[in-house]
Amino acid sequence: MDETLTGASAYRPRPIAGDLAGRHIVSVEQFARPDLDALFADVSRLRARTRVSDASVRHLCAGMLLATLFYEASTRTDMSFQAAMLRLGGEVIAASGGVQFSSVYKGENLADSVRAAGCYADVIVLRHPAVRSSYEAAYNLDQLADRLGRRPVVVSAGDGVGEHPSQALLDLYTIIDAKGTADGLRVTLVGDLGNGRTVHSLAKLLALYGARNTRLDFVSPAALRMPREVLRFVQERGFETHETEDLMSVLPESDVIYWTRVQEERFADPAEYAAIATRFVMTPEVMSHARADAILMHPLPRKHEMGTEADHAVLDADRRSVYFHQMENGMYVRMALLAGVLRGGV
Ligand code: NCD
Repeated sequence: MDETLTGASAYRPRPIAGDLAGRHIVSVEQFARPDLDALFADVSRLRARTRVSDASVRHLCAGMLLATLFYEASTRTDMSFQAAMLRLGGEVIAASGGVQFSSVYKGENLADSVRAAGCYADVIVLRHPAVRSSYEAAYNLDQLADRLGRRPVVVSAGDGVGEHPSQALLDLYTIIDAKGTADGLRVTLVGDLGNGRTVHSLAKLLALYGARNTRLDFVSPAALRMPREVLRFVQERGFETHETEDLMSVLPESDVIYWTRVQEERFADPAEYAAIATRFVMTPEVMSHARADAILMHPLPRKHEMGTEADHAVLDADRRSVYFHQMENGMYVRMALLAGVLRGGV
């Protein structure tokens, strides 16, 4: 697999600026508050319509094709994009045996694999281990567009330790859905804040949304702190932030507790991973210190950072756990995104 980026280093994604149609979605930085309000209104409408099996939803992307290109493991993101497209009446293709049995196996680079997908599909959902790989995909699709006479778009499903924009959108939607607002909250992000792309995007998105009087607490081992550029990004937008290794100094006051997995696959040295893997573990005992109206979020998948299987069962039964809502909302958010980029909205 070729992880080096070429040609596209100067690519800058276009802001949404009120119109999702034809936009590549590669960073949360493309979204401003009005774009988020409009998107979330579409998400709520699609959720309501889908829940009552409104048949007209199946016309929104009828005749359109989505291609998935996943160079990294995925369950929720992959399946929810597929489910979203199928529920919109579109169709989905992928290399029959996954990318490992595509021409990637023969040494094909990302730019060529993406352009191949672009020749067949209207939208490509890309997950790749290289940071900014989705920018490279967007650049190459734009180069191809004139020859094709149509403009296929890419939607990032996570670029290495960079960003995970659609996850952040579903996370923010879920926070507003559960708490009624994004204002006045204490949001605590816990775990591998260095390698976790979901928390990078979520922190930035809260700042872009302009949540008022909301404070961000970052809890991580020293070696896995939030990247400085993300910290700067949120601070420049007026957010109060606080970094600590002392979970109990912030957990009892938190309105939103966002737990994350230590990203084992990002560690070159297994001993380094082992040394911090169990530093922050959510258990029912830990959760007993949280507020009665707090919400517990996790992008999933979860491992030991959410305790044992017995702990999972207790946490799952806790009404404050909203990770299954995140999952379901993820499909509706991706429906709204796909209908937006392919059709301009719902
Ligand atoms: C996350 C990811 O892939 O970044 N999973 C997801 O998309 N829901 C989080 C993780 O793998 O820990």
